Amino acid sequence: MINERVRDALNHQVNCELVSAYRYLAMSSYASKMGLNGAAKWLSIQWEEEIGHAKKIFDYVLEQGEQVILEKIDQPPAEFSTVHDMFDTALKGEQELSSRINELMNVAREQNDNATQVFLQWFVTEQVEEENQARHIIDMLNLAGDEGGGLFLVDKELDQRSTGKD
Ligand code: FEO
Repeated sequence: MINERVRDALNHQVNCELVSAYRYLAMSSYASKMGLNGAAKWLSIQWEEEIGHAKKIFDYVLEQGEQVILEKIDQPPAEFSTVHDMFDTALKGEQELSSRINELMNVAREQNDNATQVFLQWFVTEQVEEENQARHIIDMLNLAGDEGGGLFLVDKELDQRSTGKD
């Protein structure tokens, strides 16, 4: 059983994860158009991860006998000034998600909801990894450059990402 405050906060988090998924999908499309097939693949895998995060929370709410009310998703950005700018946007998005997970954890704690705190622990750990991945790509772009041969190398590196399914 979860109370209303926890349910509503989880409900909104489903939306936040889907907003993030939508943003990554838009980025993947942009990268593909730029000829950056490695980045497009990386971003598409990230899209799937975010969908997975949303579904995980969705399933948890249902498992608690509640209903998820899906919220609106706005149009994500379609253009970026540079590839660096695109991954900066990705990192900011992850930092925002981390803050939201922390807020969600605070709500669960205030409501003495131990089950939800345990459930959210996975997301706390996941966010450290998600932020770190985006930061690592920005570091690579800073080192190699975000145009020409440097960008080509970073793109090849991003192409190495595996879904765990292949
Ligand atoms: Fe759902 Fe990228 O965190």
